[in-house]
Amino acid sequence: MEAPSWTPFAAAWFTILALLLFSKILRRKKLNLPPGPKPWPIIGNLNLIGPLPHRSLHELSQKYGPLMHLQFGSFPVVVGSSVEMAKTFLKTMDVTFASRPKTAAGKYTTYNYSDITWSPYGAYWRQARKMCLMELFSAKRLESYEYIRAEEMNSLLKELFKSAGKPILLKDYLSTVSLNVISRMVLGKKYSDQSEDSIVSPDEFKKMLDELFLLNGVFNIGDSIPYIDFLDLQGYVKRMKIVSKKFDGFLERVLDEHNARRKATENYTSNDMVDVLLELAEDPKLDVKLERHGVKAFTQDLLAGGTESSAVTVEWAISELLKKPEIFKKATEELDRVIGRDRWVQEKDIPSLPYVEAIVKETMRLHPVAPMLVPRLAREDCKVAGYDIQKETRVLVNVWTIGRDPEIWENPDEFHPERFVGKNIDVKGQDFELLPFGSGRRMCPGYSLGLKVIESSFANLLHGYNWRLPENMRPQDLNMEEIFGLSTPRKFPLVAVAEPRLPLVIYSL
Ligand code: HEM
Repeated sequence: MEAPSWTPFAAAWFTILALLLFSKILRRKKLNLPPGPKPWPIIGNLNLIGPLPHRSLHELSQKYGPLMHLQFGSFPVVVGSSVEMAKTFLKTMDVTFASRPKTAAGKYTTYNYSDITWSPYGAYWRQARKMCLMELFSAKRLESYEYIRAEEMNSLLKELFKSAGKPILLKDYLSTVSLNVISRMVLGKKYSDQSEDSIVSPDEFKKMLDELFLLNGVFNIGDSIPYIDFLDLQGYVKRMKIVSKKFDGFLERVLDEHNARRKATENYTSNDMVDVLLELAEDPKLDVKLERHGVKAFTQDLLAGGTESSAVTVEWAISELLKKPEIFKKATEELDRVIGRDRWVQEKDIPSLPYVEAIVKETMRLHPVAPMLVPRLAREDCKVAGYDIQKETRVLVNVWTIGRDPEIWENPDEFHPERFVGKNIDVKGQDFELLPFGSGRRMCPGYSLGLKVIESSFANLLHGYNWRLPENMRPQDLNMEEIFGLSTPRKFPLVAVAEPRLPLVIYSL
């Protein structure tokens, strides 16, 4: 019987495939890779990663050391878990590791990597960062929006007064204030207020942002094993498509309204960040054209980046204090001494409140919002600490582990703000033992805004209210577990009770 006509082709294909596979194995054998667990076929080391990946990687790094090599499905991953490794990846060799891996989240939720967070290293991303530095987050612009932050802080403090003495879900209040601040700065108004021209209800908008944030941080199996991507085993891609469709409807309306206003007014001056972006999109001198979908992607990045992270940090800070009343006492003593009891804390007061600042740093040490930062990608083959790192390797810096390194921190698991008092350790990317905002080229561009919102809302929550747990709940009952997404919030949102501690007249100011 004659062999079918496709047999020689199939045989040739098999040979090529086998040769490719063999040469890949040989090449890998020759490489001097960092230590790490032995990978299984297809899944690699994914079997070792639990629901809290930073904790799984922390455990593994205790065994394999501060530079560790793993295989997530088809992709090599290296994890840096020490100050020295953080410095290597984010400073010494920053430019080599300045790209981001391609993920389903970047593709489906950020207009095919057109935002800042997921766009690959290159001219488009460099231009985006320049816009952040010069336009969106310049000291002048942030200062010009200070009145917005003050107004929104004030309404938070008034809302809390209305609920005084009753158990509340603190995070709801905190995310409302950060969402309002960021909406007014980015969009010019609270598009999600209860007025009739609002596009979505505040609850719906918060749900959309929560979903976006979660989906940008989840461990999507298809990102590691691309040939089963189409199965969408966890259903994440479906959810990404749904949430990005909702966002697109919202952003289209926002851009149309902004454009209409710009056209209707001669010599229009930009009021908010969307105005600034639309103006830049019309700039013929721009190196890379900023298209409409780019404006939408940037806008969404700013809304998402600015809302969740501050709320999560302040919720952790209050939770830690509820377990340690002596810290409360010390902080309120400082507030009474520096601010007095006849006014609220303003942003300019923060440098005079070293203990409050120390509590915020201690919270960011133990509860970094992004415990492994955002993954980076090796742009070329290179060597780190004598080991080979291949191009396209994904790089994680485990700041969660660094924040608990007993070589750096005394009693690392203890919440002890005093460790920062009188010390020159900051969170601005220069001190590699404390990197809640990352460092280097990809460092968070919104860090100074984020810090302002966190520090002033936290200081005012302490200044204006005594906090306690609901009746029948003891500090030792407070569960401090977290869940993993792009941010790492408490697993069980904090329920607490606020009691006013200033003269009543202050609450009506
Ligand atoms: C409030 C606390 C905040 C924390 C803890 C935080 C944390 C981070 C971290 C860890 C990264 C990744 C850094 C890296 O890869 O090395 C990042 C990136 C980023 N953050 Fe933030 N962030 C905060 C607030 C904000 C705000 C207020 C905005 C904007 C309004 C923002 C926008 C961004 C953007 C666009 C990126 C991507 C930068 C890039 O890839 O070039 N973040 N942030």
